[in-house]
Amino acid sequence: MKAIMEVHDLSVTTSEGATLVWPISFTLEAGVPLTLLGETGSGKSLLAQALMGNLPPALNASGRVIIDGENLLEMPPQQRRRWWGRRMTMLPQEPWHALDPTMRVGAQINEGHRLVAGLEPAAARHAMYDDLEGLGLADSEFKLPAQLSGGMAQRAAFAAARAGNAPIVIADEPTKGLDSARRDDVVRLLAQALGSNGGLLTITHDIAVAEQLGGTVMIMRRGECLESGSAETLLKAPQSAYGQQLMAANPQHWLARHQHFNPADDTVLQARSVSLSRGGKSLFDNLTLNLYRGEVLGINGASGSGKSSLGDLLLGLVKPDAGKVERAPGIASTRFLKLYQDPPAAFSPFWSLGTLLHDLCRLHKLSWDSVPPLMERLGLAPDLLERRSDSISGGELQRFSILRALLLEPVFLFADEPTSRLDPITQQQTLELLVELARERHCALLLVSHDKALIDHACDRQLSLEAPIRG
Ligand SMILES: Nc1ncnc2c1ncn2[C@@H]1O[C@H](COP(=O)(O)OP(=O)(O)OP(=O)(O)O)[C@@H](O)[C@H]1O
Ligand SMILES: [Mg+2]
Repeated sequence: MKAIMEVHDLSVTTSEGATLVWPISFTLEAGVPLTLLGETGSGKSLLAQALMGNLPPALNASGRVIIDGENLLEMPPQQRRRWWGRRMTMLPQEPWHALDPTMRVGAQINEGHRLVAGLEPAAARHAMYDDLEGLGLADSEFKLPAQLSGGMAQRAAFAAARAGNAPIVIADEPTKGLDSARRDDVVRLLAQALGSNGGLLTITHDIAVAEQLGGTVMIMRRGECLESGSAETLLKAPQSAYGQQLMAANPQHWLARHQHFNPADDTVLQARSVSLSRGGKSLFDNLTLNLYRGEVLGINGASGSGKSSLGDLLLGLVKPDAGKVERAPGIASTRFLKLYQDPPAAFSPFWSLGTLLHDLCRLHKLSWDSVPPLMERLGLAPDLLERRSDSISGGELQRFSILRALLLEPVFLFADEPTSRLDPITQQQTLELLVELARERHCALLLVSHDKALIDHACDRQLSLEAPIRG
């Protein structure tokens, strides 16, 4: 078997000398997918960035990464950059970081085919249409990234990253927030990109993705590789205690909730005969819904079926085409809140998280005392407060956004895919904590997820939105 990339003792350290990834060695074989599973904050994304050569300036990679006899870590930065998109490409954890917010989706993909792959204009346009079609984005050619749903942005970023046909693909959580049909589509595309000669490193929290990809699996925790082996054996019978816990926490094994919630008639929000359509398609029609304090209502549905739009409508961020939404009187508007699907977009990267939270407390006259215990319950180490939002892991930031929302004592919290960036163990813990706090504080929790098992597990009632016509 041909080694397409050899990694020897690769480690990542901070300029103060702390080790974030301990020396790790592995080989990316041509045609054999390598999938990285592991705890949130365990160093998976940093490992991927070290391989690509786009670590933040305060972090250093050492060791050797060999492709075609050349050690990437010794290559001048300009030369490495010339490899991006051509020899190796990365789909970063946050699709918004891979897309230009001012440029239409079709044009971005087209540019990759033309400028990176070097296709003639007509061929590039053709390839762009094929990509959009294949990813169910046929009607998104002229949309700006901000007009896409989270799952759609993920697929658009995938097409843009792949346009240069680089043989080595590194994909950081390429299926988060996607329903199972879309997830299968992305897995198929990754496998296709790999072919028999390419290299593929996928980072995922979704064990089903690791199963579907096959090949080799590595499990990471706290900056270390705990074990690696063939997907077939490792996923069925992991050797490490952590690997066993991780497999057992797969949402597919979670139990559905049996406890029934009795709403004391404490309505916090009421939607009366609301309808909404987008781009000529009706998302929901004549929908009437009462939300009670302390209840957990789940919304399940395919990517793009209108889950987030319904939540936005209930919050008053989107106006219904017909009908109306009424709030219980006498409650401050700051207590009707949304947990955004995309945490990096909701935090300024220019201030430390500690400063942002202190400002929030000052602005809303809240006591700081509730911050440390809540951080502990969310599994967030105190030293993370000193860092900025772009210097912590995706899952850590997701838990910070939960923390920030809970500090404001919401009476209605619309949580849009609130655990999509967490490993199954942390996901379960965080979800249970969110439900527990909603009950304790009499907050109505509207939980949106593409994952039916998660909704079944956590919610008192659920609403399923029909899938739109697939493009
Ligand atoms: N710029 C930075 N400076 C210091 N520490 C950092 C920086 N970026 C990330 N870290 C820390 O390094 C650790 C690993 O981060 P990384 O983003 O690789 O985790 P991850 O395994 O990808 O997690 P997730 O599954 O949540 O995305 C985390 O504890 C994170 O807080
Ligand atoms: Mg990550």
